[in-house]
Amino acid sequence: QQVALGIDIGGTNTKFGLVNHRGQILEKGSLKTDDFPLVEDFIDALYENLTPLIARHCDEEKLDGIGVGAPNANYYTGTIEQAPNLNWKGIVPFADLMTKKFGVRCKMTNDANAAALGEMMFGAARGMKDFIMMTLGTGVGSGIITNGQLLYGHDGFAGELGHTIVKPGGRKHWSTGSEGSLEAYASATGIAITAKKMRAEFPSSMLNNYPEEDISSKVVYECAIAGDETAIEVFRYTGQKLGEALANFVMFSSPEAILLFGGVIKAGDFILKPTKLHMERNLLPIFRNKVSLVFSELNEADAAILGASALVWEK
Ligand code: BGC
Ligand code: NA
Repeated sequence: QQVALGIDIGGTNTKFGLVNHRGQILEKGSLKTDDFPLVEDFIDALYENLTPLIARHCDEEKLDGIGVGAPNANYYTGTIEQAPNLNWKGIVPFADLMTKKFGVRCKMTNDANAAALGEMMFGAARGMKDFIMMTLGTGVGSGIITNGQLLYGHDGFAGELGHTIVKPGGRKHWSTGSEGSLEAYASATGIAITAKKMRAEFPSSMLNNYPEEDISSKVVYECAIAGDETAIEVFRYTGQKLGEALANFVMFSSPEAILLFGGVIKAGDFILKPTKLHMERNLLPIFRNKVSLVFSELNEADAAILGASALVWEK
């Protein structure tokens, strides 16, 4: 059987899998992206991890290629450019480096685009021609599908919705320096920042039981589950910012659905309810109660691995 490698590079973790033509993941694994300050060392580590995996499942000549989803990836050139949440700065010729190391062709797209593709082929967006995938993790990414195709734009970077401004003059982004981007509020990183600010205002919040460096969106979720009002308010505020942004995106491209994906959605209704409320509230009436807001159906890693692997067989 023919197989492809699908790799999903995230700001914190990288997940990979060997995928067959029918979209079955034969085996998968992961690496910590931020353990590798140098991209060459990262690729060496990928090679060491993947070689035995490939050997277990196929003869080397049956590997059709490698598909990679990564932040700030350029579909046209196979480069990763100035990613705000990765160690590798400047313009990294990632696909070329992979081809040199593995000896097969490598195609790239943005990580959120890969997740959108995977979801369209195998998940909650099956049969949809117009939808937006939002990935809420270390950063905020998006994949915009219009008329059954990913929107790439003039230079291959279209759909960086995480960096659109939701609060003019607002919170300064830790890496890009922009003020008030969606990512600065709705990413796991942004949620931790909000939590640190809010807990200072509410001394009785459970969030104050943790040292500064332990405050994460996961901890906020645990406190929210335990009934902590401040933690619940952190998600409400996050959902408000996200919902306002989604209303803009709906009016821009009239999607059938918006899919939410990534670590942050583990917060469930704590985030989904306020997001929906503020999206609907800000929509022009012609769009109201028409766009479904749903969580991804695929296991977190799988959508992006499958979508990335599909690049290999794309015409
Ligand atoms: C990057 C996007 C990426 C997203 C999620 C953002 O900071 O600019 O390219 O899709 O993070 O990883
Ligand atoms: Na994108």
